[in-house]
Amino acid sequence: MKKQAAEKKPRVVTTKTVLTMKKTGEKITMLTGYDFLVAKYLDQVGIDIILVGDSLGNVVQGYETTLPVTVDDVIYHAKAVKRAVKNALIVVDMPFMSFQTSIDDAIRNAGRIMKEVGVGAVKLEGGEYIADIVKHLVKVGIPVMGHLGLTPQAINKFGTYEVRAQTKEEGEELIHDAKVLADAGVFAIVLEKIPSSLAKRVTRSVKVPTIGIGAGPHCDGQVLVVYDMLGLTEEFKPRFVRRYAELANVMRDAFRKYITDVHNGEFPKEKESY
Ligand code: KIV
Repeated sequence: MKKQAAEKKPRVVTTKTVLTMKKTGEKITMLTGYDFLVAKYLDQVGIDIILVGDSLGNVVQGYETTLPVTVDDVIYHAKAVKRAVKNALIVVDMPFMSFQTSIDDAIRNAGRIMKEVGVGAVKLEGGEYIADIVKHLVKVGIPVMGHLGLTPQAINKFGTYEVRAQTKEEGEELIHDAKVLADAGVFAIVLEKIPSSLAKRVTRSVKVPTIGIGAGPHCDGQVLVVYDMLGLTEEFKPRFVRRYAELANVMRDAFRKYITDVHNGEFPKEKESY
């Protein structure tokens, strides 16, 4: 008889768990989540981290960029996620201009997220220039995940979503930023859309786990936007997104069948009525 893979025992994931996973070599799994039901299913199957990413600006709200997302928006979505989750670590993105303006603003806004939702950590985009903010957040008891490489909140500075840190100098700067963030106290760092060889060097250079998106296989963990991997964001087809389902097709088929059934008087039947 074929041996079945042992199912992972559900465990409550904390920032400490994630740090330990780097030491033991267990890969960290992270996906975004913005609503109750998706968060429930992610949690049921043992995802380690659910990121309430500001990518919700693109995939839920329909904006071109993540810049319009507000602290109230992430709190609204994080509350829905929180109600569903028993085990995963929930991390919430700090929106554009909710932390860059001052240490006080960063503490006030991150404090709101922690107090009003009760999540485990926040995520901040940026390198050395946010190190002081990270230090203060960690000091007051707010765990921070870093985010380097392609940082979508800086899209207007770069003008494209191309692979970042492709030159030697940019690569060295990114490694420096990662070390500074780790020293400032982040418990993990997202590396977005950078060369795989650079992500490997960063992963070896810092004690905290790296979580890659478009950064190759050498990171300590991986993250994707959940609607991308489910095939809901059809037009978005970068090579780093593996589509594990084609839900856009499934949804359209279901909607078409429903419309046809209603038109033809096929729905509802007697047994679906009272
Ligand atoms: O907002 C987001 O979803 C993110 C991930 C892409 C890492 O920052």
